[in-house]
Amino acid sequence: MNNKSKIGVFDSGLGGISVLYEIHKVMPNESIVYFGDSGNAPYGVKTKDEVVELSRRICDHLIEAEDVKAIVIACNTATSAAVDILRSQYSIPIIGMEPAIKPAIVGTEGVIVVLATEMTLKEEKFNKLLYSFEEAHRIIKLPAPNLVDIVENHMDDVEYVKQSISSYLDQIEAHVEGIVLGCTHFIFLKDFIDEYYDHKVEIFDGNFGTASQLKNVLHTLALLNDETFEGAISLLNSKDNHFVEKSKDMYQYLRKRAQDGSK
Ligand code: DGL
Repeated sequence: MNNKSKIGVFDSGLGGISVLYEIHKVMPNESIVYFGDSGNAPYGVKTKDEVVELSRRICDHLIEAEDVKAIVIACNTATSAAVDILRSQYSIPIIGMEPAIKPAIVGTEGVIVVLATEMTLKEEKFNKLLYSFEEAHRIIKLPAPNLVDIVENHMDDVEYVKQSISSYLDQIEAHVEGIVLGCTHFIFLKDFIDEYYDHKVEIFDGNFGTASQLKNVLHTLALLNDETFEGAISLLNSKDNHFVEKSKDMYQYLRKRAQDGSK
């Protein structure tokens, strides 16, 4: 392994493609291998031990078969369950996700909803972060387990997507000013959520923060790639080739969205 080695990125499925996209934007000359574990998604309804074991298997693969120089857990759920254990077991840097609570608190004055999986919201990691803010009382936790399956399997059924999002957001009676997307899958639902609130909420995610953190860590360890040409991206998925194709489409969707100037 050296500074020209790939960066490994993994998620329970397709959601982490949004993190991959951000990493490539921040460090275009890095080569990245992405592993989506769609064959085992969703992680949020599994036990913590199961998520640790699945994460460990993926890290072993990325290190042994791909010789990666760092691993990004592009999944809030796997980060809450496994990041400390993985860091204690591997010598390469492991970067996790963190829900963007701080920017949401700074950027709004009213109620903020954190939309994430059940596991993320109940794990100690999230609650420690949440209660480190004096303004934690402004935050409502909203578990949305079905939305992961929707992003994996049902994005073509627009009516179903809209109905499912409404069924969660309708539960909030307060006037909402900010939404924190505490699950990387939900980035793909951003436009629907924005529409639900008639474009009147601020939506936050932790992807840029994670990509920047990765860059800082690689810089500190002298592991940044110094090539000047664009790095390669390889996509792997534990389910089947159809999901590799879907991963490509989702990556292209994010590129197009950015070109169109969506917020
Ligand atoms: N992308 C994962 C996350 O950020 C989804 C978890 C799941 O598979 O339930 O939490």
